[in-house]
Amino acid sequence: MSSRPRKLFLAALAGERQARPPIWLMRQAGRYLPEYREIRGRAASFLDFCYTPAFAVEATLQPIRRFGFDAAILFSDILVIPDALGQMVAFESGEGPRLDPIVDAAGLAKLAEEPDWMRLAPAFETLERVKTALPGDVALIGFCGAPWTVASYMIAGRGTPDQAPARLFAYRQPKLFAQLIERLVEASTAYLLRQLAAGAEAVQIFDSWAGVLPPAEFERWCVAPVAAVIAKVRASAPNAQIIAFPRGAATQLGKFAHVPGLAAIGLDTAVEPRVAIEALPGRIALQGNLDPLALVAGGAGLDEGVDRVLGGFGERAHIFNLGHGILPETPVEHVERLVARVRKA
Ligand code: CP3
Repeated sequence: MSSRPRKLFLAALAGERQARPPIWLMRQAGRYLPEYREIRGRAASFLDFCYTPAFAVEATLQPIRRFGFDAAILFSDILVIPDALGQMVAFESGEGPRLDPIVDAAGLAKLAEEPDWMRLAPAFETLERVKTALPGDVALIGFCGAPWTVASYMIAGRGTPDQAPARLFAYRQPKLFAQLIERLVEASTAYLLRQLAAGAEAVQIFDSWAGVLPPAEFERWCVAPVAAVIAKVRASAPNAQIIAFPRGAATQLGKFAHVPGLAAIGLDTAVEPRVAIEALPGRIALQGNLDPLALVAGGAGLDEGVDRVLGGFGERAHIFNLGHGILPETPVEHVERLVARVRKA
């Protein structure tokens, strides 16, 4: 008889505080790892890398082997959804993503009704293969971008400092923008359901650009679409464990308090843990929120930052993470130091 190993990450997501918090890091696979740079150099492009299970499986597992994190996250990108909807997406090395921008109704009409599931099949194969390769106590996370954040790249066609193109589009053509958001709600829901069917035990919705929206727009373009994705996913998969990461939500964090079915909220670096504890009910676990720059810096600054995060969440269920993705210049030894300190806690 063998009992299933307990997964700390899933227990914390269920709302139970753990003796030591589970830990994983956003962008834990990537350029700060020499073994990632080595295999990344063998693919013709970043999207080819994502769509080749041999590479994606390996990239997903690399940080688990090196650091023993409590969760692995599918190696992919949020922009595979516009790609699978037929929009041109490319990653220029060192310059970030480039898309064929959607500027009007004709651009929107060019998108496919549904994502090309054949194009996304490698992500599901990657999840299946990672699931069988993971140690029994490590959970597997799938993800997608939130409709607002994905739409902001689809409209601007590139990264921008403030997502001004999408904000202007939403003010000038709200009906058209709502149609794009609705399409992304449907595509994201179907994509997450397929990831859960392929073995993901939890999924995270990355709303990296939530913080540029004023209150009414935050409700309409961030909270409502994320809540719709959660409701629709859970209508088909009632036990789906879903984390939302509304980066920059600040004083608007409490708007997630009433989103049904939300298991956890990812907190960005600027959120005071006490404020999140008060703004969100106890059933919602809190994830975060060490400054990625403290991890770059290392030393006493890192230790102090880690201790403040560890001590900040009181009796709340807490999942240790960064407040945003790990930076490429992060020394590997600093990540080792971080993990050791969290494990000792
Ligand atoms: O967390 C993980 O380890 C899983 C993989 C993952 C990637 N991107 C890999 C990636 C995840 C979860 C993402 C999410 C993502 N992608 C977000 C939301 C989170 C966030 O960081 O705010 C966003 C906004 C994107 C879009 C994106 N992808 C941009 C803007 C860029 C270029 C900037 C950069 O860091 O280069 C990417 C490329 C990308 N996605 C890389 C990786 C490892 C680097 C490209 C490479 O290795 O060649």
